[in-house]
Amino acid sequence: MGKYVRLPIHPASCAFFYKCHTSFIFDKPMTRTVKLRTMVQVVYGGISPVFELTGKRAVVTGAASGIGFAISELFASQGANVVLVDLDSERLNIAATAIREKTGAATSSLACDVGSQESVGKAFSQIVGPVDILVNCAGLAHVGNLQSTSLEDFERLFSVNVRGTYLCMRAAIKTMLETSCGTILNLASIAATAGLSDRFAYSMTKGAVLSMTLSVAKDYIAQGIRCNCISPARVHTPFVDGFLAKNYPGEEAEKMKALGQSQPIGRMGTPDEIAMLALYLCSDASSFVTGVDYPIDGGFFNLR
Ligand SMILES: NC(=O)c1ccc[n+]([C@@H]2O[C@H](COP(=O)([O-])OP(=O)(O)OC[C@H]3O[C@@H](n4cnc5c(N)ncnc54)[C@H](O)[C@@H]3O)[C@@H](O)[C@H]2O)c1
Repeated sequence: MGKYVRLPIHPASCAFFYKCHTSFIFDKPMTRTVKLRTMVQVVYGGISPVFELTGKRAVVTGAASGIGFAISELFASQGANVVLVDLDSERLNIAATAIREKTGAATSSLACDVGSQESVGKAFSQIVGPVDILVNCAGLAHVGNLQSTSLEDFERLFSVNVRGTYLCMRAAIKTMLETSCGTILNLASIAATAGLSDRFAYSMTKGAVLSMTLSVAKDYIAQGIRCNCISPARVHTPFVDGFLAKNYPGEEAEKMKALGQSQPIGRMGTPDEIAMLALYLCSDASSFVTGVDYPIDGGFFNLR
């Protein structure tokens, strides 16, 4: 585990430091992981045990890229034993190695197609010991309205975003029930509850993720299992880069700027910002929170 950077900060200064973000506070030589970890400490006024994940096993799907990678890295830096799951085995191994080298935490990786029952069953059977945290991040995007969405695309999106979330929750809850505790966090989207143009199949899947979240939260509340979801607006990840490259070749930079400016805050979110909320929702700090959909949206819902 890397060294913690302890800062003598008065609690009243925390909000100010948070606003200034790490690039202002810390010098360049600091690694991103240390920055993130330090940010957690700064924001919450020192190392609070409630944000530590020491001794917990966290399974993160879609961990080879974007938000899933940022969550895996932050969880590892907070002491979790992270099991990274992704379809892309090459990038998965690179991600797991990078996190291990940066944080010193024990990580492992499992190549898995979350949309396949067989593949999920095989992956979870390789996890030794209980799963304390499951984060369902694996997801696909799609652009199209009702008429332009083919059945093939509809089912492809359903398979990963909906069936994948269902299968992984079903596999993880078995061990959570044995220990009578556990936390599930699903990645929904603002598309789950807002009408967005040309997101027919994507919105369908994210609405289902939200509904499944509420259902699981309700059914397992008495067994000590919490289930929440996060609904981000646009976050700059390879997900967005791929979308722009495919749909606006040669105009990527211009479109990127326009996408950021279309959000009230004037920019896209970063994977690290989503990871901070994920840490809160998967740690003991949120022990009273279940059955909630958290927008993290740069003002999308309330400030348009
Ligand atoms: N980026 C955004 O603007 C945004 C906004 C709202 C919600 N989300 C949601 O957040 C999640 C992560 O998005 P991201 O932007 O980090 O995406 P990303 O494309 O960077 O990462 C997604 C990961 O999922 C993996 N994956 C895809 N299909 C899989 C399968 N069948 N089995 C296992 N892994 C598979 C990919 O290999 C990839 O590593 C998604 O569920 C997405 O819908 C993203």
